[in-house]
Amino acid sequence: MSGAAAHDLIPAPRAVETRCYIGGEFVRGDAAPVVVVNPATDLPLAEIAGASPSLAARAADLNAHAAREMRALPILKRVELVRRLAAGVRNEAPHLAALLTAESGKPIVESRGEVEYAASFFDNAAAAAEMAAGELPASRTADRRVLVLREPVGATFAITPWNFPLAMIARKLAPALAAGCSQAVKPAEETPLSALAFARIFDRVVREVGAPTGAFSVVVGEPPQVAAAFITHPGTRKLTFTGSTEVGRVLAAQCAPRLLRTALELGGNAPFIVFADADIDRAADQAMLSKFRFMGQTCICANRFLLEASIAEEFLARLEARVKALAAAIGDPTLESTRMGPLINDAAIAKVERHVADAVARGARVRFGGTRARIAGLADRFHAPTILEGCDPTMACACEETFGPVVAAMTFRSEAEALAMANGVPYGLAGYVMTQDADRLLRVAEGLEFGVVGANDGAPSTAEAPFGGRKDSGLGKEGGGHGLDAYTELKYVSLRVRAGS
Ligand code: SIN
Repeated sequence: MSGAAAHDLIPAPRAVETRCYIGGEFVRGDAAPVVVVNPATDLPLAEIAGASPSLAARAADLNAHAAREMRALPILKRVELVRRLAAGVRNEAPHLAALLTAESGKPIVESRGEVEYAASFFDNAAAAAEMAAGELPASRTADRRVLVLREPVGATFAITPWNFPLAMIARKLAPALAAGCSQAVKPAEETPLSALAFARIFDRVVREVGAPTGAFSVVVGEPPQVAAAFITHPGTRKLTFTGSTEVGRVLAAQCAPRLLRTALELGGNAPFIVFADADIDRAADQAMLSKFRFMGQTCICANRFLLEASIAEEFLARLEARVKALAAAIGDPTLESTRMGPLINDAAIAKVERHVADAVARGARVRFGGTRARIAGLADRFHAPTILEGCDPTMACACEETFGPVVAAMTFRSEAEALAMANGVPYGLAGYVMTQDADRLLRVAEGLEFGVVGANDGAPSTAEAPFGGRKDSGLGKEGGGHGLDAYTELKYVSLRVRAGS
């Protein structure tokens, strides 16, 4: 494939699954269609008939039923299911990666990385489930035993985002299945195709293993209607959502009357702090990884660059050299050589433009980029990687998550000021610190009010780590052994034991 386009791998719309997957069957939806469009070309990829409220309610019933079957499935069977899903994803990596690129505009090289990232969640959940154990704490009295059992939460409902259409399903589903739960997924309207392609893999694997076929479903449709059907269903026990803080609040309010468990992975506004004692080249490399992954469209992408004043110019000069090289690799995301594709939709690029215009109007300077990048024959949705210098914390690019390829650089003069600036937003998902001073590295990592800290690391995501935010960035952790905990209830059984004669 090296140097060649991956067009051949992108299935024609007729080869794409266009039905929902409910109760172990592919079912044609009975409501308005969801039209999936390639953001790089504006060409339609597929039309998926959405689920009506009554079909979504039926899906919620079947999800609840499957949860009862999953609870009874022996742990070794669950582990086998999850392990085989990892293998199934890897076996279909070229197809899945091509679909991810077609529906999201993610450069093909990154899409391959996402497929492997997705598979790694299944590996990790299987390993965690094999090691999972209850507890038998020492009892205070001779006539009692304290048994702490781990039980599956039950039927769960996941709403997944367009920026990692496959990996975020894997991050939620793998521990759910391993813990003995069922999970129905409503994928983002922009990117349901890889979810449905994964459903095909699940359908084959679940039958080979002999596990409950309804343990995973994909329900495409109007988000509020599908969500309402699951949230109000008495069998649903948990909602897990990755998306915006605004939608997360609405969902949390809908879950409150039922006291439904929630895991909410919401927006971020990540600070990337570079101290004068950092290795500046290394910091610039890590900044590129953090800022430009999927064109800046991840919740943990660096949003605000906080630079110690004495090295700000040196850092930006080195970053600029790298950004220039990146700008030469914008284009068709199916090409091996492409490192930046289109943004997901018109609203996304409009937000980037608003942030750049606001910063400039308030005195920032465009050091590099700052405009759309027009690519012949492709949609007008590409934006040059951009460096803004002279930003301040009041600008839109610092108060809001840009979710695009913009470096918003500002300066600080002391460690205390850097921490105050970093923590001075309502969000708390990811933060980054670059320094070669080991004491400072730990001090600042501890001082950052964020759920994930990249310490000299611009790419901290990995399946074995607990991932999730604080403050307005949400509740709960997913991934790693703690990911399994999120799908487990503890039950205390008090056992009275009579003394022997
Ligand atoms: C996200 O953007 O929501 C997830 C990012 C990651 O897993 O690295």
